[in-house]
Amino acid sequence: MSNYTDEEFERIVSPILEIEEFNRLKFITHHGITRFDHSVRVAYFSYKVSKALKLDYKEVTEAALLHDFFLDEVNHESRVERLRHHPECAVKNASKYVDLTEKQKDIIKTHMFPVTFAPPKYLESWIVDLVDDFAAVYESCYRMKMEFRSAMFLFMFFVVNFVKMR
Ligand SMILES: [Fe+2]
Ligand SMILES: [Fe+2]
Repeated sequence: MSNYTDEEFERIVSPILEIEEFNRLKFITHHGITRFDHSVRVAYFSYKVSKALKLDYKEVTEAALLHDFFLDEVNHESRVERLRHHPECAVKNASKYVDLTEKQKDIIKTHMFPVTFAPPKYLESWIVDLVDDFAAVYESCYRMKMEFRSAMFLFMFFVVNFVKMR
């Protein structure tokens, strides 16, 4: 079960949320929360956006949920290497449990673009890339005081995109 109350969303994500290895993400810190909670958040907002745009939202939601499905494969690497390498690990781990479509593989592989050099091939991949940026910045700002949070949110959104553009 996720913390979101949308029944259709729950139906789409529940088979993945039951995977034991995926539940190990609950014990990994990611942007100050758990990687599990971050992944569910990215999945939920990708679901909302792709549904509003009348895209194949089931396909997008599954890929968004799996976009950071890596455990400790990249811990020995530098920060930049980790940023570049973890999408490949996520595709590999996700493929053990889900028969990923080509589009889903692209969504996961390119969610760090342009840190990873190949650009997204599909609109759906751009959506998850942007939702992931918003989620990362929101989560990083969440624990700050309310009056400071909005300004920091905007500032960090631009910083994240500046860093990714380099
Ligand atoms: Fe990621
Ligand atoms: Fe992410």
